[in-house]
Amino acid sequence: GDSVDDALEALRAGEPILVHDAADREGETDLIYHADAVTADAVARMRNDAGGLICAALGYDIAEAFDLPFYSETVDHPAADDHDLGYDERSSFSLTVNHRDTYTGITDADRSRTIQALGKAAGAPDAVDFATEFRTPGHVHVLKAAPDLLAQREGHTELGVALAAAANLPPAAVVCEMLDDDTGKALTPTDARAYATRHDFVYLEGRDVLERLG
Ligand code: 5RP
Ligand code: CA
Ligand code: ZN
Ligand code: ZN
Repeated sequence: GDSVDDALEALRAGEPILVHDAADREGETDLIYHADAVTADAVARMRNDAGGLICAALGYDIAEAFDLPFYSETVDHPAADDHDLGYDERSSFSLTVNHRDTYTGITDADRSRTIQALGKAAGAPDAVDFATEFRTPGHVHVLKAAPDLLAQREGHTELGVALAAAANLPPAAVVCEMLDDDTGKALTPTDARAYATRHDFVYLEGRDVLERLG
């Protein structure tokens, strides 16, 4: 099978990888890119081939530097009072954002613009005034990794950020769930692996990442 080293090399080369978290967690496989590599064509691949929600996962310290909160802790609504997720303690969702140079924010070019700017910001947080560059609400979901990363939470948020960091890239990974066009459910690991093979993309199980980087 593919190794974590293959994944790090792919991320550095701007290629996507696939990561299945665990059968006893979400049981989802996300298509994952480094944020810097998310061109308009990459956004098109995520919405056409993956079909889930396109999210930009940032390392905890970067998110803190930009005052990006966990959404559940900041929204003042009774629907946010109880986080009864079936698969984890809490969600990693932060704000939704658009780069201020976008128009509607949803087109492939607009989402690519927003995501690449997030990648650049993650690489040089001191050089960025977040609110000058981005507005909220927007069309890219920011995810905020747990402070202690994989030691604390084993989601795609943390898996993506840990892989980016291990590849010596800024901690900004873009994740999108692979859904099955026929069933509407999460693409099975078997089908996700077949997609990866067809496109010559790296496929990893979350436990492979945890063994190496956890
Ligand atoms: C946002 C999600 C995805 O599952 C994404 O992978 C991030 O969540 P997590 O870190 O919990 O896996 O729900 O579309
Ligand atoms: Ca599709
Ligand atoms: Zn996930
Ligand atoms: Zn999910």
